[in-house]
Amino acid sequence: MSNGQPADNSRRNWVIATGVAGGAAAVATAIPFADTFNPSEEAKAAGAPVEFDLSGMRPGEQRTAVWRGKPVWIVRRTPEMLAELEKHDSELADPDSKRNTSGPDALNPPFACKNQWRSVNKEYLVLIGICTHLGCSPGQKFMTGPQPSLPSDWPGGWLCPCHGSTFDLAGRVFKNKPAPDNLGVPPYKLDNDEHPTRLVIGEVTKA
Ligand code: FES
Repeated sequence: MSNGQPADNSRRNWVIATGVAGGAAAVATAIPFADTFNPSEEAKAAGAPVEFDLSGMRPGEQRTAVWRGKPVWIVRRTPEMLAELEKHDSELADPDSKRNTSGPDALNPPFACKNQWRSVNKEYLVLIGICTHLGCSPGQKFMTGPQPSLPSDWPGGWLCPCHGSTFDLAGRVFKNKPAPDNLGVPPYKLDNDEHPTRLVIGEVTKA
């Protein structure tokens, strides 16, 4: 893997860090889905759950919601993206997300996401879009293969512009990078684990 470190030092630009694979940017909109689910803006800022509509997402698309003032990426992964996740475990710092990190942002995936895909439904990935090194916003690099600042066998994922950390399509950090840990997975639940159309960030399904 390459250790290329881009010169762009823009930091904490995550509020605008959203995009769509293939080009056109799209900012997601959190929408209410029930009368009982309508927290105030003040409540959201204090940590209230945030709802997100998955129904319009295209395969390969990334959108961004905001939860507790932080960007949360939602990615609808294609079968090809999922297949890439099986090919590079040996190149990852923590492929099974076993590290017992602590902190307020749930750096470890919740129980239901302790799997190869780091997600409840493998098609839909939900990540906190903040680099675990110094808090920059990694940029979307879904195109595979050789390209500037990335290794020739790049499997798709994210590149942090600040110091060159790279993350795969499950948010797992590659070895020998400044970022110590995988991208965080926030607590969340789906309306239907098999065929989800709605996501609530900040709540988990009770066992
Ligand atoms: S903040 Fe991401 S690599 Fe340093």
